[in-house]
Amino acid sequence: MDILPLLVLFLSWQTKAVRTKMKLTPASLTVVRGDEAKFTCSTSYTPWTAMTWLLGDRPVLTISKQDGVVPSLNPNITAVKCSNSKTDCWEFILRSTERNSQGQVTCDLHLIDRKMAELFVQGGRIHLCACLCQGRSNEMSHPC
Ligand SMILES: *[C@@H]1O[C@H](CO)[C@@H](O)[C@H](O)[C@H]1NC(C)=O
Repeated sequence: MDILPLLVLFLSWQTKAVRTKMKLTPASLTVVRGDEAKFTCSTSYTPWTAMTWLLGDRPVLTISKQDGVVPSLNPNITAVKCSNSKTDCWEFILRSTERNSQGQVTCDLHLIDRKMAELFVQGGRIHLCACLCQGRSNEMSHPC
């Protein structure tokens, strides 16, 4: 009996089993500029060691299973452990979102899997002000 097809099948099952053990929510989030954006990443795959969050392709925060959140240079980017979760779960918090925070948000479980979500940041106050003040000069520098 040829063992190779069986092995391939077994390996693909294994990969699938690992892949389905990770969740990133919500898949898509829209916030007003300046507001907080929160995403939750959870896994029931206990051997994980590190979780990295990326904005676009930029890693912005790492969480170690053993030591928790690795302090970030940017105080507006943090994470907290989810309350009431049976699985390992972390809530990623982006304080005072900017237009350039918009884009793909990725939760990467090192060497296990990664999941992606979309963050949309809407104009917010300055944009609204620019609309309301249209016709005035310097509308951007004088918030209404
Ligand atoms: C953090 O947010 C504040 C506004 O709440 C902003 O002034 C500051 O520049 C932000 N810090 C970084 C490093 O982005």
